[in-house]
Amino acid sequence: MDNVRKINDILVNLFNVVLKLEEKAIKESTNRDLSITELHTLAAIGQGRPKTMSQVAASLKISVSTLTAAVNKLVKKGYVDRFRIPEDRRIVKIRLTDTGAAAVREHEAFHMAMISDAISQVPEDQIGKFIESIDNINEYLLMRKHPPAKDPGPFSMKPLELGKVHVPVPLFQGALSIGLSMSRLAAAVAREGGVGVIAASKIGFREADFSENPLEANKRALRREIRKALELAGDGKRGPIGVNIMWSAKHCSQYVETAVEAGAEVIVCGGGIPTNLPKYCRDKKVALLPIVSSKRAANIIIRNWTKKFNRTPDGFIFQGPLAGGYLGVKESKMETAAEEFYKNIADIKGELEDLENCPLIVCGGIYTREDAEKAFAYGADGFQLGTRFVTTEECDACDAYKNAYLNSKEKDVTIITSPEGFPGRVIKNSYVSRIGEDPRCITQGLINAALGDLDNGLIFCGSKVQKANKIEKVADIFREFT
Ligand SMILES: Cc1cc2nc3c(=O)[nH]c(=O)nc-3n(C[C@H](O)[C@H](O)[C@H](O)COP(=O)(O)O)c2cc1C
Repeated sequence: MDNVRKINDILVNLFNVVLKLEEKAIKESTNRDLSITELHTLAAIGQGRPKTMSQVAASLKISVSTLTAAVNKLVKKGYVDRFRIPEDRRIVKIRLTDTGAAAVREHEAFHMAMISDAISQVPEDQIGKFIESIDNINEYLLMRKHPPAKDPGPFSMKPLELGKVHVPVPLFQGALSIGLSMSRLAAAVAREGGVGVIAASKIGFREADFSENPLEANKRALRREIRKALELAGDGKRGPIGVNIMWSAKHCSQYVETAVEAGAEVIVCGGGIPTNLPKYCRDKKVALLPIVSSKRAANIIIRNWTKKFNRTPDGFIFQGPLAGGYLGVKESKMETAAEEFYKNIADIKGELEDLENCPLIVCGGIYTREDAEKAFAYGADGFQLGTRFVTTEECDACDAYKNAYLNSKEKDVTIITSPEGFPGRVIKNSYVSRIGEDPRCITQGLINAALGDLDNGLIFCGSKVQKANKIEKVADIFREFT
């Protein structure tokens, strides 16, 4: 009880002290006319592209009318600029003025200095443990906000049926593009009984004719990798070989058909809502799994497929905002999505309850067995690891890519935004600061990284990348989880 009281006092005290220090810092700063709430509003508007009022209101979890009142004042004080976009005069956007951006920078610098000062009190060799402990408390409180519906009982990894496809171990390897999850990694995972997934995105990047005829180059490489993976995986008791296809990709229907023809046993489809996926794969022996980020998306797919194709997905993959690769939630909604991660697992599971057999696979920030156990407690039937598989011997990434993971620290991770407005998590390097928002640079950066040119490359990663500290075998990961 003593410890409970002590920790409670510390947390309450910390909260109050930080608030007072913030107030004092603002009074002493160049922006004395701002309140803490106003500064937090400026931080939510952020220094990137202009935002709509509803984007900012969502990230602050306030109504648009409350935000409008706050923005009116900030415009008057010269911190925010409000304008209509020329393409559609009905849309109002807001952005920081130079003074607003400077105020946010000054406030961020204050936060960084305060925390650096405070943690200088923690001995260097205990920092890692300290971060882990407060992170655990944070996650636990998040879980308490939405407790699991029922006690899941002891953690057990039961085999799954994805339609007609048997999966001995419900551990999925997430697609890793470009060129990082090819036949070698996928086969190694399938041999352990999990689902090995080849990433189809720009898979032909090493083909001689890739620039002139990307469609043919991609199809050729995809066919070859699937056949190789099936051969390497062997005929024994194994998990299936899957292919991940981005629904937003040009010619995605042709990639689905090519994958099925070459023998893919599972098709995973992300990057949009694949309302027509069954049209391109009539063979019910192939399992179809959409990736979703919300219950709403799952519901749209179920209703669409039932009406148009008289079938439902053979499983869903729910990707949370801590995942690697592109995320399905806008940057302004990432914080809320992280807070609601466990609630969303339970909600999506509820949505699938009435279907005959539709397992839910969860991913995003799952790195250890403990992480997987939490997802299972909320209703997951299986889980997917992306980041963890990059630092395996069998991963098809080059050594420089794997080393970037091994050397990464939490502060090295940043978010870039695709031209469609979707965030992607990457390891900071000079290329990230050079590319701006040019989509060609993003694709080229991913290809350069796959080829080992990390100075001109983009290194996608999940939020737990800093946990990677050794190269391991795929079999070691399965041993830890099963
Ligand atoms: C380097 C990298 C590339 C990825 N490429 C893709 C992709 O092409 N398609 C996709 O659906 N997901 C992609 N992802 C997401 C993963 O498949 C997986 O869902 C995600 O990494 C899980 O989160 P975790 O990294 O925290 O384990 C990628 C992730 C990483 C780290």
